[in-house]
This record gives sequence, structure tokens and C-alpha cells, in this order.
Amino acid sequence: MGTTPEGVQDGAEAKRGAFSSRQVFILAAIGSAVGLGNIWRFPYVAYDNGGGAFVIPYIVALLTAGIPFLFLDYALGHRFRGSAPLSFARLRRGTEGLGWWQVGICFMIAIYYAAVMAWAVRYTIFSVNKAWGDDPEGFFFGEFLKAGDPGVDATPVWGVLIPLLLVWVAILAVMLLGVQKGVGATSVIFIPILVVAFGILVVRSLFLPGAAEGLDALFTPNWAALTDATVWAAAYGQIFFSLSIGFGIMITYSSYVHRHTDMPGSGLVVGFANSGFELLAGIGVFAALGFMAQANGVAVDEVATSGIGLAFVAFPAIISEAPAGALIGVLFFLSLVIAGFTSMVSIVEVVISGVRDKFEMTRKGATIAVTVPMALLSLVLFSTTSGIYVLDIVDHFINQFGILLVAVISMLVLSWGLRVLPTFSDHLSDGSSIVVGAWWRVLVSIVAPIGLVLVLGLSFWEDVKTPYEGYPAWMLGVFGWGAAGAVIVFGFLAAQAKWRDPETLSEVHFNKKGAES
Ligand code: ALA
Repeated sequence: MGTTPEGVQDGAEAKRGAFSSRQVFILAAIGSAVGLGNIWRFPYVAYDNGGGAFVIPYIVALLTAGIPFLFLDYALGHRFRGSAPLSFARLRRGTEGLGWWQVGICFMIAIYYAAVMAWAVRYTIFSVNKAWGDDPEGFFFGEFLKAGDPGVDATPVWGVLIPLLLVWVAILAVMLLGVQKGVGATSVIFIPILVVAFGILVVRSLFLPGAAEGLDALFTPNWAALTDATVWAAAYGQIFFSLSIGFGIMITYSSYVHRHTDMPGSGLVVGFANSGFELLAGIGVFAALGFMAQANGVAVDEVATSGIGLAFVAFPAIISEAPAGALIGVLFFLSLVIAGFTSMVSIVEVVISGVRDKFEMTRKGATIAVTVPMALLSLVLFSTTSGIYVLDIVDHFINQFGILLVAVISMLVLSWGLRVLPTFSDHLSDGSSIVVGAWWRVLVSIVAPIGLVLVLGLSFWEDVKTPYEGYPAWMLGVFGWGAAGAVIVFGFLAAQAKWRDPETLSEVHFNKKGAES
């Protein structure tokens, strides 16, 4: 078969936008992968899951599911040259809903992701004069977020609302600039800055007294915890979130890459850069936790209790006590803002490109139609006194029963339903020094699905048995199960809507045998 559908890209490239080179694509993909997931989420997920217990499931999930699924996303987007819904629809009309499901997931993630970025914007400023005083935990939940008991309270928190609005305005401005000048250029500019800022920070943390104890806590394997299903579920969830897979981002980005591009080689660079950065973030945060533990005379696992707020509680405590604390603080929270921004553009791009492809809208029209409602919902849900609870619930459920679920279903549909993996591995291997052969097909069709089904089954059972984090049932029903279910229904319904130009679909498709026709 031809490796790329002839005649699709040239005209479409001008219409849909494209990255100017492989380097820009790799930087954009790293920019998407390296985000709040690495700096804010990884340390608290690792911490909540026993620190040392987490590293082994994390690596297993990366190698057996993360990288293989990344390649699958690449194959789909690069081969069919469309947003997530268009790529699926071109592959087989009946699978379009899987693409819209992923668009829905991005919608949900974007609205809370922006809120965490808004916190980071505020904390960059707070760092300068250590506004949290001597009680960072009380400050974060109390004075800053004004969080009461879990429930829904629509009282606005201006200290979050204003930076959140700014985040959305900045996102809107960048998205209006398009694929290369907006999405691509953001990463080209910000990723080098991020590497330098974060590098300085990690080195500084490593020289804090007590840092070694913190690293021990992160890297001492806890074999007993390997039998704990929730640790495995958290590891798979973290890998998919962090690599930006299972929510359409990599399908979309690879559709903007020139057809003669080494995709597997790029994928390995992206995958290892992302995990390298994640471990670096873990090292920085745990070194700092070790410092706090030593300063307070307690064990590392007792030093913070705040889960989702770990970065916003542990770091301020360190900033207050460590020499040159304000510098550490500004570097840390600025890194969070920068890393978050390059990921946020990728999440929003999935929704914009889906809408553009389906309704043949202009870049400007689709950007406004998508970004404005997202921003409004984000402001309503996450800048009130109950924002942090809603955020915690949506994050947990959308990851487990959104990203992981759509990932496993896509793998099963593509490998067993449509049997397209041989074609995909040919496509990936063509022009690459890496042969994406039987090993990949086995991982995608058997190993990863088995791992994910087990993890999902067990975490489903866990969430049914015990209310997540003890939140009220109605909140879990609406923002957890409800949100995860709503994106599935949305995916199904969106796929029923007519394509404005049905020709869009006919440019490339597969016949029943999985061959291009
Ligand atoms: N991959 C992005 C992150 O890690 C979403 O934050």
C-alpha cells in the first residue's frame, strides 16, 4: 500500500494548517506531553501511592502500554490526516464516535487544567513575598481557595477567577494564530525556557539538607505495594495523561506532520523526554519533601497530607525555609505555568480541529466557537469555593473512565475489529530506522488491553465499593460518573451529525480487508 494517502495532504495542508518541520512537531509533542501532569500531578500521585511503590508500575505501564499506544495514535493521525473524529471516520465511518469521545475528554480536561494553571500564576506572584506565611496548607485551602466542606457553592473566589480569565484570554490569542504560528511556536519558544528553569530548580533542590531522604522515599521499591491494584491503576492513568495519549492530541498533532516523517523515531524521543522530565520533577519535589521532613523531624510520607494540593503546599513550605526560597518559588511556579500552557494549547487544539474538520469552519470561527464556551464553563465550575473538589473528582473519573476506557476500546476495535495493525505497522516502519513489527502488534492487541482491562475493572470495583476520597454520592454522581458518561453520550451523538462536506470523508478510507481503497 502507499504509505500516505496521495493527494490528501497538499491541498489539506494549506486548509488545516501544518507544522513546518519534524523538529517543530517533536517540540510541540514534547510541549504537549510535558505539562501539569509531570510537575503537579506525578509527584502527588506518586506520593499518594506510596512513593517508591509507584516507580515500577509506572515503568511497566510506559513500556507496555504508553509507548505502543502513542505509536497507534501516530499511525492513525499521520495515515488519515485528520482530527481525532476525522481520522477515525476516514478509517471506518462507524468508529467516528471514538474520536468525538476523545474530543469530549479534552473539553473536560481543558476546563480544569486551566484552573490549576491559574493557581500557578497566582503562586508565582505569592512566591516573591511568601504570602502564605507560616501555614502553607491552611493558606492554600483556606485563604486562597476558600474551600469549605465538599459540596457546591457558587460563591466566586476572585483570586482564582481573575488569573483564570487571563489564562483563557492567552489561550484564545494563541489558538487564533493557528497550527504553526500559535501551537508550534509556543513550544519552540517555551520548551527551552522550561528546561533551563526547571533544571536550575532541580539542582537547587538536590542541595537542600534532607534531600537524600526524599529521594529514598521516591526510589526505594515497595514490593508489597505491587499487589495493590489501585497503585497500578494510578500508574496507567498517569502514563496516559502525561504522554497526552487517549485524548486525541497525538492523533491531531501527527495529522499536521509532513507525510515523509520518521514517526516511531519521533515517538521514542517524545516518550523518553516526557518520562525523563517527569522523573526529574519527581526528584525535585521529593528532594524538597525530604528537606521539609528533616526540618519538621518527621518521615517523608508524613510531611504533607494534601494530595492534589501537594505542589501548592510542599513547595511554599520549602520556599519559606530554604535559602534563596523566593527564587526557587518563582522558578517552580513559572515552570508549572509554562509547561501547562504548551499542554493546554494541545488539549484545546483537539476540540478546535475536530469542529473545524466536521463543520468546515475557519480557524477563527472554530477557535472562538470552542474556546469561549469552554472558558465560561471553566470559570463557573472552578473559580468558586467548591472548585477544588469538583476538580479532584473530574480529574480522577475522566482519567480512569475516560482516557483509559477509550484507549482500551480503541485498541480492541483497531486490532480485533478492523484488523488494521499490520497496515499501521507498515505505515509506521516506512521511512523509519525502527521496525514497528510483531512486538508492537502484540503489545497493542494483547498485552496493553489485558493490563488496561484488569486495571479498569479493579478500579471500577474500587470506586463502586468506596466513594472516591469520601466525597458525597451526589457529587461523585454528577462530576465523576456523570461527567465520564456524558462524554460517551456526546461522542455518540456528535458522530450522528452530518459532515458539512461529505467529500472530506471520502478522501481516504479502508475497505473491509483493511486495505486502502
Ligand atoms: N500531557 C499533559 C500533561 O502531562 C496533559 O499535563
